[in-house]
Amino acid sequence: MILEVKNIHKDFVIERGILKREAGSVRALDGVSFRVEEFSSLGIAGESGSGKTTLAKIILKLMPPTSGEIIFDRAQVVNFRKDVQIIFQNPYNSLSPKMRIFDILTEPLIIHKIAPKNLLKDKVMDLLRFVGLDESVLDRLPIEFSGGQRQRICIARALASEPKLIVLDEPISSLDLTIQAQMLDLFLELKTKLKLTYIFISHNLAVVKHIADRVLIMQNGRIVEEGKAVDIFRAPQNPYTVALLNAAKS
Ligand SMILES: Nc1ncnc2c1ncn2[C@@H]1O[C@H](COP(=O)(O)OP(=O)(O)OP(=O)(O)O)[C@@H](O)[C@H]1O
Ligand SMILES: [Mg+2]
Repeated sequence: MILEVKNIHKDFVIERGILKREAGSVRALDGVSFRVEEFSSLGIAGESGSGKTTLAKIILKLMPPTSGEIIFDRAQVVNFRKDVQIIFQNPYNSLSPKMRIFDILTEPLIIHKIAPKNLLKDKVMDLLRFVGLDESVLDRLPIEFSGGQRQRICIARALASEPKLIVLDEPISSLDLTIQAQMLDLFLELKTKLKLTYIFISHNLAVVKHIADRVLIMQNGRIVEEGKAVDIFRAPQNPYTVALLNAAKS
């Protein structure tokens, strides 16, 4: 086990007016617990607003939970900032617009002391090869790329720190359908090659089916179904899962 999520609750307080009066709260997560095994791929699916991104942000320590615990196995996750990475849906605002690709990719290599100065270029070339890009991208800025290319750069940057666990939050939803299939294949290939563990979030069950070996189905901040992907896709138990499956087919 690499990660245990224990009874996470998250309430967002809604404030109104200049006095920031508390106008109520939204319960985004309502008692979420699960474990992630090393080298596995956990798919999390559920409709918009079910709490998937909130959960991802809490796992990544980008926001605190209202209550509950996130526990990483200390043997695997030694340096959290290095060993746990996230890839977001929108590659447009997750890369610094003024940094050239070479600097975007070398920054984590330097910060985490992955490669000495004289080997930085070699390491960057390895990263580009992993994601199917070549040397010609190095002097360019993020704005000069298509969405699919930019997502490849985000993946290369996430891989630069040699992570153990990668949380992918709708990583292909903003891309063209033709590119989506290529990206899914890339994720599968990298997972095996680099011995990664994935938490793969998508509202689209067809995508989750392709990539996950275990699946969690979320609705209104709760897990309503959980199991092996093969079992859930063959014989879903919860009516909400059936509805999601039907929506993915149409
Ligand atoms: N910063 C915030 N402040 C207030 N409410 C929030 C905030 N972030 C999320 N929420 C609410 O929490 C709930 C869960 O949102 P979340 O973004 O986690 O859903 P999601 O499953 O990722 O949806 P999607 O598939 O659209 O990305 C929603 O009701 C949302 O409106
Ligand atoms: Mg989301």
